[in-house]
Amino acid sequence: MAMKITVIGLGYLGATHAIAMAELGHEVIGIEPNPKRLGDLQNGLIPFHEPGLPEALQKVLEKGNIKFKENHDEESFEADMHFLCVGTPQLPGSYAANTEYLHAAIDALAPYLREDAVIAGKSTVPVGTAAELTAALAAKVGFVPHLAWNPEFLREGTALEDSLRPDRIVIGVNDERSEELLRKVYEPITDLGTPFLVTDIPTAELVKVAANSFLATKISFINAMAEIAEVSGADAVKLAEAIGYDERIGNKFLRNGIGFGGGCLPKDIRAFMARAEQLGVGSAVDFLEDVDQVNLRRRNRVVEIAQSELGSLSGKKVLVLGAAFKPDSDDLRDSPAIAVAKLLLAAGANVMIHDPISLENVNAQHPEFDTEQDLLAAAQGAEAVVLATEWREYRELNPAHIGAVVANRLLIEGRNALPVADWQNAGWRVIALGRNVHAAAN
Ligand SMILES: NC(=O)c1ccc[n+]([C@@H]2O[C@H](COP(=O)([O-])OP(=O)(O)OC[C@H]3O[C@@H](n4cnc5c(N)ncnc54)[C@H](O)[C@@H]3O)[C@@H](O)[C@H]2O)c1
Repeated sequence: MAMKITVIGLGYLGATHAIAMAELGHEVIGIEPNPKRLGDLQNGLIPFHEPGLPEALQKVLEKGNIKFKENHDEESFEADMHFLCVGTPQLPGSYAANTEYLHAAIDALAPYLREDAVIAGKSTVPVGTAAELTAALAAKVGFVPHLAWNPEFLREGTALEDSLRPDRIVIGVNDERSEELLRKVYEPITDLGTPFLVTDIPTAELVKVAANSFLATKISFINAMAEIAEVSGADAVKLAEAIGYDERIGNKFLRNGIGFGGGCLPKDIRAFMARAEQLGVGSAVDFLEDVDQVNLRRRNRVVEIAQSELGSLSGKKVLVLGAAFKPDSDDLRDSPAIAVAKLLLAAGANVMIHDPISLENVNAQHPEFDTEQDLLAAAQGAEAVVLATEWREYRELNPAHIGAVVANRLLIEGRNALPVADWQNAGWRVIALGRNVHAAAN
């Protein structure tokens, strides 16, 4: 049954959630204070790159069951559910998450909150945040609000699909009303057989950080194996394939390279360490510090390889293929590609960045880099090419074409996504992270 809901904060998570809710038939009011983001959405544009989302927005705008506003107004009072989707970034100078946007969001909602309405937090938060928000809100509104936690597992690049057909839905609740409304809102999805887990609130808060910590650990595990492989003549790609056949291990998130990044994994594992420390159990997740460090070390490895191949990088042109933290996204937050580009720049290289869709963001956020949208123009005269984000465009690149314009056919394969033999056959010297670099291609 259609419900009236608000979605507060329309970034990668909130915009997708709002559109997904409208697709399910609910009547959605999206709240977003950032004028550029708000204006784009009001004009039917998605302010970031996310496949399928622009078409879905058009569809629900035409259907007429979504609207976007800068602030709440009387209409928010009619809503049965409010989803909190604001950011929880890393605090500067600390590992902890900044939860001030959540507090601001509930403060703004308070005057429009009905006593029987339900608030569901979707942002990724330190365990205990919901209790804090509930107490703060109760003090403002004079009743104990129905506040639940409903972590989000969408992945940028497949965000809409992940929202409409998730692996599971998790809700953490304290009261029957919250469970009843959350069941109702997700009914069109659970009717398809999607597992629906009901937990207490701290468990729901922990689910997301635990999942991200596990994924980060898996990536850093194979990257640690890559470090061993590099000094022992072994091949971490083959190693991953061999261990990945064990279904207890599985082959996903097991490709070594320059590591994880983005707006979630790095800040989530750091916030988890900070929260565990506050709770007096920091040593339980001490290993995440190593996970983080392995991840950061892999970025330096690219520069070490470039220097060992080219000597001083001073004044040498290096082309970095990819800027986004992963393909099919234009998100540069904590992007390993940008981190590698910065390290190369610091080592004296003339860094040229190419990316199929995020160069506008690169130019706005990192004006220190040269960028070029045309790939062959970007490659002109390069002494090394670094694969930093495994866009399909790069995976399908003809190595002879790009080889014809570079000054030196050196490929540093930071993602282990290219057909090495094809590149070698086109005359490239390929150094791939975690692989026996001089071994015959396979
Ligand atoms: N990006 C993802 O793939 C993803 C996936 C799962 C969970 N998450 C979590 O979701 C949360 C949001 O992430 P994001 O990537 O969408 O961040 P984001 O920075 O893209 O979006 C946050 C949005 O909230 C808005 N905002 C800030 N204060 C507000 C307020 N008081 N009222 C209304 N809106 C406000 C901002 O203007 C911004 O548009 C984070 O906790 C993140 O960890 C993100």
